[in-house]
Amino acid sequence: MSELNKIALKILEKGKGILAADESTATMTKRLSGVNVPSTPENRLIFRETLFSATGMTECIGGVILYDETIKQESSKKKKIPELISQMGSAPGIKVDTGAKILAGSPDEKITEGLDGLRERLKEYYNLGAKFTKWRGVYNISKNYPSKLSIESNAHALARYSALVQECDMVPIVEPEVLMDGDHSATDCYQKTSDVIKKCFEQLILHKVDLKGIILKPNMILAGSSSKNKISNQEVAKLTLDCLENSVPSEVPGIAFLSGGQSEIEATENLNLINKLNKTSFIMSYSYGRALQQSALRFWSKDIKNIDGTQKIFNHRAKMNSLAAQGKWSKDLEI
Ligand code: G3H
Repeated sequence: MSELNKIALKILEKGKGILAADESTATMTKRLSGVNVPSTPENRLIFRETLFSATGMTECIGGVILYDETIKQESSKKKKIPELISQMGSAPGIKVDTGAKILAGSPDEKITEGLDGLRERLKEYYNLGAKFTKWRGVYNISKNYPSKLSIESNAHALARYSALVQECDMVPIVEPEVLMDGDHSATDCYQKTSDVIKKCFEQLILHKVDLKGIILKPNMILAGSSSKNKISNQEVAKLTLDCLENSVPSEVPGIAFLSGGQSEIEATENLNLINKLNKTSFIMSYSYGRALQQSALRFWSKDIKNIDGTQKIFNHRAKMNSLAAQGKWSKDLEI
């Protein structure tokens, strides 16, 4: 078993998943303004440290994706944040893309940037303790999108990123996110997600990426958020499994879904059903941002000194998702 494969499996072992705490400063400012907390480096750290030192980390969170600001910060007890995460039994990871920018040639779409100087940045993150990384490609669905140009160029970038990350002995999380915004059907989402993922693997293979040493972070198959034709959770689970079984090579050890704007319960319920029906060899887990943090953030914003109360809410959400990653969740466990 390669070292990279071991790291990937460890992150997702025993119902563990990933806490995506890698919001850029701009996104975190939006989240904090939403709950009337000033977005200062100190406040961003207080919230994140509260989660990273919660007991739920040890049992339920195998990896934490950090943002550049956080990986370089120290906890209130003067401990480096990656060290705090490792001590809680989890692996520190880092978002290394520099964001999605307008795609020249198709200005309604986005291309993710960050390849220039990446090899050097990766060395720095590795030395700071990172064991894995994340890069997110983003695609929107409408009549003519995602275009061939967007599918090809984002897949190329994801593959170049992954090869560089593995060269630096870290596990790349490959995140091609087909957005749920719009009124498209679940069938459209299935088709576009399948096209996007297949192209990613074509490029990953071309760039000689070791597929046993990656984690795929895809969206679930859902009808668009403004679609009138919503499908049931059972159908979401069936379509998601079918799509991934037909587009992801079997060497890939694990799939950790993004929540993408689903509510906390919806993201947990869908993951649970996916695991109940899963006959593939893939571990199916979570790499949630909003769906792990939303309630905790709302509670914390009322009294940022209430560490215990905030951690209790986070621990619960983490536990619910960990049960869902094993197909053992049920609604009556929710409080
Ligand atoms: O790139 C997206 C984040 O890592 C996952 O965030 O679960 O809120 O979609 P989300």
